[in-house]
Amino acid sequence: MPSMRRKCGLNHLRGALVLLLASTKALAQTTTSSATASTAASTTSIYISYSTGTATSETTPTSAPFPPVGSIPRDYSPSGLENIWSLVGTVTAPPFTTTPVPTASVILPSPPPPLYPTWYAPEPSAIFPNYKLPKGFKFGVATAAYQVEGAVKNEGKGPSVWDWASRQPDAIVDNSTADITDLHYFLYKEDAARMAALGVNAHSFSISWARIYPFGAADSPVNQAGLSHYSDVIDYHWSLGIEPVVTLFHWDTPLALVAYYGGFTSSQIVDDFVNYAKTVFQAYNGRVNTWYTFNEPRVYCSELGGYPFNTSFAPGINASTAPYQCYYNLLNAHAGAVKAFRAMGISGEIAFKNDDFVGQPWRANSTEDVEAVERHAAFQIGVFSNPVYTTGDWPEIVKETIPESYLPRFTEQQMQDLLGSADFFAIDSYRSMLIAAPPNGIASCMSNMSDPLWPACNSIEFYDSNAGWALGPSADPQEDSWLEATPQTLRYSLQQLHERWPTNKMYISEFGFAEPYEAERKDMFRITEDSTRTNYYMTYLGEALQSIYEDGIPLMGTFSWSIVDNAEWSSGFSTRFGIQYVNYTTLERTYKRSALALSEFFMAHLQ
Ligand code: BGC
Repeated sequence: MPSMRRKCGLNHLRGALVLLLASTKALAQTTTSSATASTAASTTSIYISYSTGTATSETTPTSAPFPPVGSIPRDYSPSGLENIWSLVGTVTAPPFTTTPVPTASVILPSPPPPLYPTWYAPEPSAIFPNYKLPKGFKFGVATAAYQVEGAVKNEGKGPSVWDWASRQPDAIVDNSTADITDLHYFLYKEDAARMAALGVNAHSFSISWARIYPFGAADSPVNQAGLSHYSDVIDYHWSLGIEPVVTLFHWDTPLALVAYYGGFTSSQIVDDFVNYAKTVFQAYNGRVNTWYTFNEPRVYCSELGGYPFNTSFAPGINASTAPYQCYYNLLNAHAGAVKAFRAMGISGEIAFKNDDFVGQPWRANSTEDVEAVERHAAFQIGVFSNPVYTTGDWPEIVKETIPESYLPRFTEQQMQDLLGSADFFAIDSYRSMLIAAPPNGIASCMSNMSDPLWPACNSIEFYDSNAGWALGPSADPQEDSWLEATPQTLRYSLQQLHERWPTNKMYISEFGFAEPYEAERKDMFRITEDSTRTNYYMTYLGEALQSIYEDGIPLMGTFSWSIVDNAEWSSGFSTRFGIQYVNYTTLERTYKRSALALSEFFMAHLQ
């Protein structure tokens, strides 16, 4: 299974365990662990499939030498910035550096013929036609700076860790970089106009920290061009009736901070992040209503112990402890930013974006599987959401399993700052699957840090245990190690989230699907016919309507990932999540069926 064998980045972390032989400590479930920082030759890895438990081995390359943490002087001059850029190497400049203003209005293509009956109805507008979405509901789309902006070295931006990571051997499946990607940085007006033509009323995008602070640090200079850019982006969206929803951090840590002190493995990140957050809050206060501090912290932190990020840890941290130090520092950074947000009287609501799901037992009458679900909920969501929404502290299950030497415990003050540090609950709800206990039992796994499933001690199953049938259609083979379309689980999933971490408002802050083999299709008429993705969206939205009306879930928005095809982390451009096709030679965008279906659905259901 090629998707099980991908070595870096994020998506495979959700579907496969990767163990480097040099370190047998598995990290959080669906995460990678690896040897300590290495600049030497390659290492042999074992890749384990969740569903089959079978292992294959192959050779993992190692990153280009990264200077020892702290060895690069803090020189905040232009030549100091070049010095940090030299860690990345040469970047490809964009084909143009101005922002065209769309002149003609965007005309949607004529509606495609009906697909075939979805689970609900032949037409998007006929899905529970009497269930209207609550007033103020956000018909959202989502993007992230690294994945869509390009122009990585323009207008004063500093390098991010992903500008560096994408250049490490074999780190990206197709050896691509995001130097240009969609060039949304310069094409944001066209993109906004194309959103508006669909009737989209909210765009959730992230700000690149390294555009605002090229060196990242609190005592380093602000880049005015970066601040002005996002100011223009925000105003332009409003001018077309699209609400800007802002995420401060979507995984693109300024590389300078990684070089200075090991990024999120050091507690120094807290002050630097809070300072960056305050600058952004101040700059856009009153023009942004919905804010996120972090996107999917668990996924981000889990990657830090693995290739190619295992090069730069804070003193005393190693590949095994790095993710947990990151959990701790990131949560303190979140709490600090929210404290500042409230002290500054910034208007609007703030939270962070969770990922994953609670899940259901794989074998209905297995008490160990029921227990495994609790562990899954605690390790995938509770680990960030208990401190923020319910207890101020790590879940008990997590504390029982992970020693303090790995996962620092919070002080009373930190717990006070964390508890209540979010105004709503956001979930990137791509899927929800079945959860099984480890074959050797939970107790044995818990007591053995070398167990491949330690510390979460459960596995995700993609098919029904009795019949052996898949839970739903698989995504593109690049993503099928983690993604199946599982709309039938959405209502239960939202109920569980709402019960366990109750709030008055929820958003599905991302959902989406990689149409199978789409990147291999050549003819436009085949590419735009993304029927599996369309069915994914329509069935999820049908379930979402029922969640609101029949289950009382306070869902106030859904954000489709993504408005355009983009740089999909370690999958590069070999997989596509866009509701618009992007021609990476001409940068032209084309609506796919899913975009038109979403438009039709929302035009019929928004009030
Ligand atoms: C991430 C996105 C990513 C998407 C599809 C989400 O979890 O936030 O950055 O592109 O999944 O894999």
